[in-house]
Amino acid sequence: MGRRPFIIDCDTGTDDAIAIAAALYCDQVEVKAVTSVNGNVAHKYTSKNNLDLLEYLGFDDIPVAKGADSPIMDNPYHSDGTHGNTGLGNIKLPDAAHKQFDKRLASELIYQTAVEEKGELELLVIGPMTNIAICLMEHPDLKDLVKHIWFMGGSVIGGNVTTTAEFNIWIDPMAAHIVTQSGIPQTMVGLDVTTAAAMKEHHAEELRACGTKAALLCADLLDYMFERRDRGGEDAIMHDAMAFAAAVCPECLECRDFYVDVECFGQYTKGHTMVDRRGRLGKAPNVSVALKVDEEKFCSWLVNAIKKSADR
Ligand code: BDR
Ligand code: CA
Repeated sequence: MGRRPFIIDCDTGTDDAIAIAAALYCDQVEVKAVTSVNGNVAHKYTSKNNLDLLEYLGFDDIPVAKGADSPIMDNPYHSDGTHGNTGLGNIKLPDAAHKQFDKRLASELIYQTAVEEKGELELLVIGPMTNIAICLMEHPDLKDLVKHIWFMGGSVIGGNVTTTAEFNIWIDPMAAHIVTQSGIPQTMVGLDVTTAAAMKEHHAEELRACGTKAALLCADLLDYMFERRDRGGEDAIMHDAMAFAAAVCPECLECRDFYVDVECFGQYTKGHTMVDRRGRLGKAPNVSVALKVDEEKFCSWLVNAIKKSADR
């Protein structure tokens, strides 16, 4: 079987960078492009992080495109410092010296790739869903061209920005509403599972011993996260890599199909993912929702995925 074509749409982001690395070296997939969106930090940083990262790891052939610098209907809010000032914690990658941004906007690159891949393209969406929603609005036939969307976002219960909303969805709820209602087959990997697994110091040591550029970078990113955790911040949670695991290591997760929609407005509940677990609305399921993770399986899958890296 050939490699599955993927586009990664992201707001890089410490855990986005680790998810990108896991995908770049995965022999089941071919990363066709990396596209950026406003999110963890301002778009000028998320896009630069993608360009610098791909050049640093030697992927000159993979297009990197800029996308939306603000949500569809809101101001461009960012995270509260979880990912440092420019998105990669305390890590400063060398500025890309020769790699240039693709001239196409993210939404155009996604659409053209979907057409070229004739219904086989899969999207790993690990930031706010603005680019995908714009693409759907500009090209309604995208819904028949994308095989599957694997997204990190939302939660069945709880939130990490408000009591009911997860960051990626809260930043651009209208985009998430458009994507969940699009009819594209999709899998939601939300806080219910992502927060149930955290990387540990021995994982970073294993990566450091591997010694490739990608493994050392991921070990440094993990070290930043351990410091952040010890300062009282977020643990070394691999939100975004877990969405990729759903695609290539499904045995890590247990999923069930539900009807899901997103609360776009609301005094307290903006960005809440409404997962109709009891089927009360009588609507056909539209999203496969991850409900349980095997922490050990997931963490060792991720370490092994990065250890497959080879310097280029
Ligand atoms: C999501 O928000 C960001 O902080 C992470 O990169 C992840 O995509 C978790 O809520
Ligand atoms: Ca992200």
